[in-house]
Amino acid sequence: MTNRVVIITGASSGIGAELARLYAKAGDLLGLIARRESALIALQQELMNDYGCDSRIGICDVSDQSAIFDVIATLIADFGRVDILIANAGISVPSPAYKANAAYLTDTIETNVLGAGYAAYAVIPTMIRQKAGHIAVISSLAGYRGLPEAGAYCASKAAVNALFESMRLDLKRFCISVSIIRPGFIQSAITDRNNFYMPFLQETRVGCQKIFKALERHQKIIAFPWPLAQLVRTLYFWPCWLYDRCFAGIRNTKRP
Ligand SMILES: NC(=O)c1ccc[n+]([C@@H]2O[C@H](COP(=O)([O-])OP(=O)(O)OC[C@H]3O[C@@H](n4cnc5c(N)ncnc54)[C@H](OP(=O)(O)O)[C@@H]3O)[C@@H](O)[C@H]2O)c1
Repeated sequence: MTNRVVIITGASSGIGAELARLYAKAGDLLGLIARRESALIALQQELMNDYGCDSRIGICDVSDQSAIFDVIATLIADFGRVDILIANAGISVPSPAYKANAAYLTDTIETNVLGAGYAAYAVIPTMIRQKAGHIAVISSLAGYRGLPEAGAYCASKAAVNALFESMRLDLKRFCISVSIIRPGFIQSAITDRNNFYMPFLQETRVGCQKIFKALERHQKIIAFPWPLAQLVRTLYFWPCWLYDRCFAGIRNTKRP
């Protein structure tokens, strides 16, 4: 039994729910945050039945600054501390520039960037007082370079990379570690909606076990699966003429 207090945003499905199972199995106490109350209650029940896990739920929209601060403050007060935050809540909607949907851009940045940043800011004062803590954010391999029809998502993950990398530098002297997770495709509600070929698509459990193990080692940046991560890193150095020749005009459609 490790008995750490782990707060996970976006715990009602996909990667967040699977990470909750892995931490529950390890004997940790869980704060589960998302908007869908029924899904969180079902997960809470499952974690209690399968692992005897003590978990609390917090219902809120992570992009609502006062709501996420209140929910996290309540969880910290209930448990008396926070050891790990996983800022995982996120959305991915198609955002082709030729359709110029400003609402999608706003939603994506508010949820993926501000939501992750608010959650981190909500735990930092407590972690500083504790002189210990671990903050992780679920970014993406999509944050290295703009991909076709996914500008909002790519921009959000690039922003998250920079925000949390700065955080890592600033918080080191308080013994708070920061991990940035950059997965490729992992089965979830997000990938279920994709209509395009997803190379190296990983089962939810397999992908999340990689994340869990890397977090247990306090790895600073985790990019996987390695062949795709290597390719994406290489693409970063391609000149624009070559990048455009290969990627311009590719359709990146999702089912509604
Ligand atoms: N699956 C992949 O291939 C992949 C790859 C790289 C990165 N990621 C990232 O992994 C994270 C989790 O995604 P997933 O693949 O597991 O998709 P998912 O199954 O759709 O899970 C997304 C989670 O985020 C929550 N969420 C979304 N908007 C929210 C909001 N405004 N406030 C609070 N919670 C919110 C959802 O809960 P509610 O709807 O109940 O609020 C849900 O629990 C995302 O940040 C995503 O960008 C996924």
